Amino acid sequence: MDDEHLITLAREGMERSYSPYSGYRVGAALLTGDGSVVTACNVENVSYGLTVCAERAAVTRAIAEGKGGFVTIAIATDGLAAIAPCGACRQVLAEFSPDLRVVSEGLSARRTWSLRDLLPDPFEAPPGWPGRKDEEGT
Ligand code: THU
Repeated sequence: MDDEHLITLAREGMERSYSPYSGYRVGAALLTGDGSVVTACNVENVSYGLTVCAERAAVTRAIAEGKGGFVTIAIATDGLAAIAPCGACRQVLAEFSPDLRVVSEGLSARRTWSLRDLLPDPFEAPPGWPGRKDEEGT
């Protein structure tokens, strides 16, 4: 799956954006470990803070579908700029794939990053906490 195709799928996701408050449509396409792609869009709410970004919606949908091993996330908007995922989405993406490739396209730009560069020091469970990945029982 090349970036071109993944961006096209992110654009299809963007078409389903529910963004009546900002008018800013975002779509995401997450390439998973089994080669399948999960798409999503931003979903806004009248209580603005409850808005869900397209990237986090894609992760939630993928996990619910039993997918993992995320390889690349493509992000598409119909603004001019290629946006980087917000801080909250970076942390959620890093939970599953700290080295995820991130490809983003606006109408006049495309950018590519490693999630590691966008979020070099994600929050991690301190020693002794449940949920710490290198400790037994987690
Ligand atoms: N948004 C995303 O979906 N992804 C981002 O990375 C940044 C922002 C959405 C949230 C809101 O619906 C709209 O864009 C404006 O912030």
